[in-house]
Amino acid sequence: MWQFAYLTFVIAASVAAAPLASSVPLAPSRPGAKPEPGDGYYSLPDPSSVILYSVRQGLVAVKRISFLYGEGIGGGPSSPSGALGQAYIAADSAICETELAVQVTIDSSDALVAMASLPKYNDLKTLDDYTKLYDGDLWKASSAPTGPAPGLLTNYTQDLLFSMERLSINPYAVRRLMLGRDSLPIPIDDAVVAKLTGGSTLADLLQRGLLFYADHSSQAKLAPTQNFAAACDAYFYISPANGQFLPLAIRSNVGNKLVYTPADSSEDWLLAKLMFNCDDFFMSQFYHLASTHFVTEVAYQAAIRTLSDDHPVLAILQRLMYGAFGIRPLAAAILLPPGGSIGKYFGWTGESAAKFSGEQYSNGFAGAVQGNYFLTNLRNRGLIDSPVGPALQNFPFHEDALVIHNAIREFMTTFVNSYYTSDSTVPSDPELQAWLVEANGPAGAIDFPTPATMKTRKQLIELLTHMGHLVSSSHHTVNTNQVMTGGGVLPFNPSSLYRPIPTEKGAKDIASFLPPPRKSVEMIQSQANFARPAIAGTSRTLVHMFDDAGMLARMTGETRAANERFKAAMEAQSKVIKARKFNSEGLSQGMPILWQALDPDVVPWSLSI
Ligand SMILES: *[C@@H]1O[C@H](CO)[C@@H](O)[C@H](O)[C@H]1NC(C)=O
Ligand SMILES: [Fe+2]
Repeated sequence: MWQFAYLTFVIAASVAAAPLASSVPLAPSRPGAKPEPGDGYYSLPDPSSVILYSVRQGLVAVKRISFLYGEGIGGGPSSPSGALGQAYIAADSAICETELAVQVTIDSSDALVAMASLPKYNDLKTLDDYTKLYDGDLWKASSAPTGPAPGLLTNYTQDLLFSMERLSINPYAVRRLMLGRDSLPIPIDDAVVAKLTGGSTLADLLQRGLLFYADHSSQAKLAPTQNFAAACDAYFYISPANGQFLPLAIRSNVGNKLVYTPADSSEDWLLAKLMFNCDDFFMSQFYHLASTHFVTEVAYQAAIRTLSDDHPVLAILQRLMYGAFGIRPLAAAILLPPGGSIGKYFGWTGESAAKFSGEQYSNGFAGAVQGNYFLTNLRNRGLIDSPVGPALQNFPFHEDALVIHNAIREFMTTFVNSYYTSDSTVPSDPELQAWLVEANGPAGAIDFPTPATMKTRKQLIELLTHMGHLVSSSHHTVNTNQVMTGGGVLPFNPSSLYRPIPTEKGAKDIASFLPPPRKSVEMIQSQANFARPAIAGTSRTLVHMFDDAGMLARMTGETRAANERFKAAMEAQSKVIKARKFNSEGLSQGMPILWQALDPDVVPWSLSI
């Protein structure tokens, strides 16, 4: 009897609490003003209102019954299952598939033109011939508004371009080596180092905090495709002479493990850089699957199962995760299987790629939450605030992502403070606390804040800011538009090589290591599927990350004002990025490429790609 009455009550309350998007009056803007449950406003749970709170708990319990953890789709940590879980996936798949279909229409017509141009490519006999793949209008609509990063097709033989790619188009691999902590993994002759660095030894560079390392050697244990990759590791250094960040050595970790340096023939050294770039592109793609998709999906699943649909934090997460659950089913369908685009174009199979992502998640490298907070991650790799050595002269990823990060944090600060009126309200929010427990427990989050560690509003602000960072700057730096305008652009950034990795030096005809013409066009088209040029300039961009009228109407006035400030900050940053030019030395942000990956009026606000 009681149960029946309770259930009726729950259903009635659930109808009352349904979103009233357009008709709802704006929620009060005074912090701490308690909107009445049922009026459509988001609110924190209030256990002192015993009956209303138990109704709210009942609704969360209903969600938990049908939103379950299932096996990770395509590998990795859990994906949603159960009736409600499936409904979330279906809704997000519809979003992803619609956005993809728009892009496929655009890139198919570009691909037709490119295929018709095959005879013009001179059979791609030289590296410069490869730049013709992007000539004129070819791929223009697919890669709008920027096309391949200016400079990438003209300055690719410059060492500075190669090294600065590590600080822009894939900023996740390189780290500074530290005396006493790190060894010197790549054997290299002191005389060669001295010649390249103007007299320093490797030990000097290490001691002075000038030596950096990027390690893709673990890829050697993955299953190869019909193509080739070398699982390279590499040294970089800050030049004692001019402070530039430059490459020092690249080692292949298959076959004879040859060590290449700029002192080798220009062909050998260029080939070494191409080999490293294959591995780095592979890493950037399958690291991003773990570090952005897996991490945010896990946190969101735990949130859905613990936070009421009336909780403001869940509302924000729902906005950030727009379309997100649609990606792994898509990847499992078209990227990962044998015959999918990974197996076709990379040096390691789709199955290997899934395994790589799973490991990067579970070993914490990509999966750790707090350890990968934007600045913490860069600090841990000695790229900012290093206790040894000089600061990097230029760090484009840090420079551009910081502006976005700061704006997200400012929004989250206002948002959080408008609901949590003192630090003590954080530990006393039972739903928020349940989220932390759930994330650390059945959801499988790694290094997620716990009830014991999250004691203040600042910590909640940092966590939510990180979620915003992962779905925007962190993702779009390596994925979305950048696959075909940065990390995957031929001739310098191939996905794999098409001839075996040499076992001795003396390579000639480097172009013969690159994909043949038709294969190149097919590959560019598959990369173009990740681009979202149709989103640029619309309400789907990062400028509009929080700009959801239905959501904001149910939030505090402070939050609505914070959204306006966020939009203004992002519009201003978009102007900065659009106005970016090469200086008189042909450099931009210290690089011979013009990097515009993080234009907030171009990239989407979520990771539905
Ligand atoms: C890089 O390429 C751009 C565009 O082709 C050119 O304007 C610039 O001078 C080049 N920079 C260097 C350092 O060569
Ligand atoms: Fe992605």
